[in-house]
Amino acid sequence: MCGIVGYVGFRSAPELLLDGLTRLEYRGYDSAGIAVQRDSEIGIRKKVGRVEELRKLVAANPVRGSIGIGHTRWATHGATTDVNSHPHVGGNGEVVLVHNGVIENYAKLKEQLQGLGYVFRTATDSEVVAHLIAHHLEEQIKLGEDPESVSTYMKAVEVSLKKLKGTYGLAILFRDLPNLILVARAGSPLVIGVGKGEHFIASDASPLAGYTDEVVYLADHEMAVITADHVDLHRRDEGRVKMSVQTINQVSTDLDLGKFDHYMLKEIYEQPESIENCLRGRIDDDSATSKFGGLNIDPQELRLVDRIVLTACGTSWHAGLVGEYLIEEFARIPVEVEYASELRYRNPPLTERTMVFAITQSGETADTLAAMRECKRKGHKSLAICNVVGSTIAREADGGIYLHAGPEIGVASTKAFTSQVTALSLLALYLGRMRHMSYHAGKRMISQLRDMPDTIRRTLGCHDSVREISAKYAGYDNFLYLGRLYNFPVALEGALKLKEISYIHAEGYPAAEMKHGPIALVDEETPSVFVIPRGAIYPKIMSNLEEIKARRGKVIAIACEGDHRIADLADDVIYVPEVEDFLQPLVTSIPLQLLAYHIALERGCNVDRPRNLAKSVTVE
Ligand code: M6R
Repeated sequence: MCGIVGYVGFRSAPELLLDGLTRLEYRGYDSAGIAVQRDSEIGIRKKVGRVEELRKLVAANPVRGSIGIGHTRWATHGATTDVNSHPHVGGNGEVVLVHNGVIENYAKLKEQLQGLGYVFRTATDSEVVAHLIAHHLEEQIKLGEDPESVSTYMKAVEVSLKKLKGTYGLAILFRDLPNLILVARAGSPLVIGVGKGEHFIASDASPLAGYTDEVVYLADHEMAVITADHVDLHRRDEGRVKMSVQTINQVSTDLDLGKFDHYMLKEIYEQPESIENCLRGRIDDDSATSKFGGLNIDPQELRLVDRIVLTACGTSWHAGLVGEYLIEEFARIPVEVEYASELRYRNPPLTERTMVFAITQSGETADTLAAMRECKRKGHKSLAICNVVGSTIAREADGGIYLHAGPEIGVASTKAFTSQVTALSLLALYLGRMRHMSYHAGKRMISQLRDMPDTIRRTLGCHDSVREISAKYAGYDNFLYLGRLYNFPVALEGALKLKEISYIHAEGYPAAEMKHGPIALVDEETPSVFVIPRGAIYPKIMSNLEEIKARRGKVIAIACEGDHRIADLADDVIYVPEVEDFLQPLVTSIPLQLLAYHIALERGCNVDRPRNLAKSVTVE
């Protein structure tokens, strides 16, 4: 995780770095820091807490210069303290750097460097890199290399990087070589923004919005020396390489909360539009199917696909489970949903007719990226269902589907989930129409999908009742979430939402499975949230609900408008519009998002920045 920014040019670096860090705070918000250079003076300011805290520190104790680097941290090695915050200093101050990633062999390197007399001030793995570079710099100079030449510094960095095992995105300042930043990447993303007489560095393109549209995505094992006027790009063992500048069409991230108190609530309310945007331009009425601009796969080849693997993490994995049900029901293609963190190290027997989809909001999740790369390595067509345009996964996939959900800033994923489910519904329709699905069935599905934005608007009408119910249940410390068929993944997702923002223990289960163990947890102190809309197996799940009631468990039911029977059984009911089974996740997930949101607020939690989490999980 962690976010990196850098700037070299003519503007005042501190403000630019602080604004960039604010935009990257979704990558981690344990602490933040900047280093700003003027001639051979490098001023460092760093602080535990949000970028706002750092901003106050810099205001009280300013640093000045037009070149600098910054970092927002999600701690991996070493507690969240001021001293463990980045930037880190190597040697006697000749190297200052920020690092995103994990150095797996740091303990061994640290021991060696300590043996050489290097004094460590922090408990981080990143400080090892700073001292290692300082050490090799000294070695190069001892070998007679010119201490004022950039190539001496590059050699020192190159030798050091070859000793590292793990992942890194690095931005480095050198005390005795002012006016440049050296960046390097292996496994952690870095983007260079190209301006006129200035250059920018960031972990992703979002901090560049409003400054430049011209970007260079650094590839693994590339490093670049960046001055105000020039970028010198090198690839490990190949030397200098030509850089390819891409133009991106980026609108400045909308950080405005508008009338909402939190991004999570704003994003919950954006769902009618985000679903509409996901559907836009993707319906082919004449052929009663869907269409995608970027799949990059020949329909003939698609017809041969006999197995689909959906791989993802967290909420995106839950969307994948809904996708499994959708694709198997409508396209009759066997689907497996794999945790990306497992798939990357497993070796399942995939055939040449297997197609892999990575599902990800950010497009930067380390495990999802690694799983996709592993599948590509083995020759499987690997596509992405992704929200962030230009993200690493979007760029590396063979093709894919963008969600067009707009920026999701709240750590708890909401609109990305419903957009992923929408994209998977369109995919199921597309694959279904290539196989067994009739024209009329395709037409029906299209008309139901088209109604969804309005149906979601109506669903949001449950907000007041959810608020009231949340106040009643906020004091409980354990919850069960139960649903069946399409609502089983919704139950998992509802439980995850509650856990991550309110720190309440919650378990999601297929409702009938609870008899095989979890029902032992049921008592008056453990409420169950039942997702029980009318549909194929409504009477079955009703029996499961009765089983809970028979054990004095409290029940909050998510049920269809007009379902009066449920009101007699459940302690509390949240009503949602009735839709076809396959569309239920789009509707039933919404009261669960609101429930988690209001319970978290009741408990005084920070809903947008929950503890220990980051929006984008870029370490494995
Ligand atoms: O960006 P991604 O969709 O790849 O992220 C995957 C998970 O880290 C993410 O969904 C996480 O579980 C959310 N915080 C859940 O709300």
